[in-house]
Amino acid sequence: MRVDVVTLFPEMVQTLLRFGVTGRAAERGLLQVETWDPRDDAHDRHRTVDDRPYGGGPGMVMKVQPLRDTLRRVRAMVPAPVKTIYLSPQGRPLTQDGVRELVQESGLILLTGRYEGIDERLIEAEVDEEWSIGDYVLSGGELAALVLIDAMTRLLPGALNDYESAEQDSFMDGLLDCPHYTRPEQIDGQGVPAVLLSGDHGAIARWRRRESLGRTWLRRPDLLAQRQLAAKDRALLDEFIREYQEKQGAPALPENLLEQRGV
Ligand code: ADE
Repeated sequence: MRVDVVTLFPEMVQTLLRFGVTGRAAERGLLQVETWDPRDDAHDRHRTVDDRPYGGGPGMVMKVQPLRDTLRRVRAMVPAPVKTIYLSPQGRPLTQDGVRELVQESGLILLTGRYEGIDERLIEAEVDEEWSIGDYVLSGGELAALVLIDAMTRLLPGALNDYESAEQDSFMDGLLDCPHYTRPEQIDGQGVPAVLLSGDHGAIARWRRRESLGRTWLRRPDLLAQRQLAAKDRALLDEFIREYQEKQGAPALPENLLEQRGV
């Protein structure tokens, strides 16, 4: 997959991508990230890319002309027409489903803003989709672009050494991941759930599924409310809740507990 990032901080983007999974994917020829600096398309001595906002107020706004010229340069270089995505807090919230959607594209142009944002006319004329990585404000879109690239890279076949591990990630099935343990078997008086040492792969898979469902129920009930659980999953979650309640010393599970949680 090819990703072209328009950014005032090309080094920031290139540097972070050199590490870990994204670095390896680049080495394997699975991911190609090019960066483009709109300052190279500014025509004045100071290479100005921003200006004061009409209507007054604090902060600066990124100008249309340098960004438009940069996008033209990028589009002249990409092998096929691709979507232009603007990263901003006003965009569609990024989820694992969204990542799965975007990684289907042969390539993407990611437009990152700084200051108060980008002149709206550039967004209207040049941007296909706007995406947000969460309900908080970053100092610029670079970290958001990096988050998106990282999450997409995990889904590129061959990017992970064991592709299975992406399939088992949190959210791949709309659920949170189960807990993981490694050696030693005992540390500071804490052991490992016995089932994981049993060698019984069926029982281990069942336990992991139950923990996934249980964690999602405890931490992100909103995710469960969005889906219809299969009968098997429902039974596993009931089992988890019963055990959880017993551990908490709470009274027996009310019959309608799942309904109370909106499941
Ligand atoms: N730029 C600034 N904040 C952002 C956010 N939350 N998501 C995407 N891009 C951003």
